[in-house]
Amino acid sequence: MFGRKKKVAAVPRKIPVNLGIIMDGNGRWAKKRGLPRQAGHVTGAQVFRKITKYCQKCGVQYLTVYAFSTENWRRPQEEVDAIMNLLRQYLKESLADFQQENIRTRFIGDRTALDEDIRLLMEEAERTTAHKDGMTLNIALNYGGQQEITAAARKLAEKVAAGEISPSAIDEAMLEGALYTEDQPPVDLILRPSGEYRLSNFLIWQSAYAEYVFMDVLWPDFKEADLDRAFEEYARRDRRFGGV
Ligand code: IPE
Ligand code: IPE
Ligand code: MG
Repeated sequence: MFGRKKKVAAVPRKIPVNLGIIMDGNGRWAKKRGLPRQAGHVTGAQVFRKITKYCQKCGVQYLTVYAFSTENWRRPQEEVDAIMNLLRQYLKESLADFQQENIRTRFIGDRTALDEDIRLLMEEAERTTAHKDGMTLNIALNYGGQQEITAAARKLAEKVAAGEISPSAIDEAMLEGALYTEDQPPVDLILRPSGEYRLSNFLIWQSAYAEYVFMDVLWPDFKEADLDRAFEEYARRDRRFGGV
């Protein structure tokens, strides 16, 4: 029989080239379950792995995830330690995975404040994946957008002081080249789950013309279908970049 089956219209999705995710809501997720905040970070880390793979499958070319901000040191020492231990564990476990997957992993942020063993693991992860030509994954760790721009300004000022460049040569492209994300394209979409409507110092330069999608779901509950919904919402946006 024709015409009996109800047709479900496919909702068009659009895949951003460069996606930023603020992985927020771990603490509230745990609290709702009567668990310590750290438990939320454990589940959040699992979701991060799953969603990273899904992003690669969908065709995202650059993914930046906010894992720890320059302001997150204000949290109780116990929580900071738990997050750092999770990072250690993730890096150790992932080194084998990294070989198989076509993902280039990089870290953005000020690593000087991190423990030496973590810094070495980060370097190893970057070294082992440097030649990969699939998705680039930036993990923002001890990252702050203001700190990043300040560091870039300092780098350029040092070049001026050394007589390598003149102040008038400094333009947007040169400043961009001094950021952690150097040669990467601008961010197309910033996704923030957890019901907060703010950027919290994430990719402030790179997201000048990004679209924003805020979702109520807490990060540990975030599913592939939520990412699909975000891509559907992104498809509806009319990006004008100041034009008409
Ligand atoms: C995000 O979840 C993870 C980090 C900031 C490390 P939160 O820990 O901020 O969770 P909420 O926002 O308190 O629920
Ligand atoms: C932003 O979330 C940082 C990360 C997700 C790593 P926060 O939870 O730290 O941000 P605020 O405090 O709600 O602005
Ligand atoms: Mg939070």
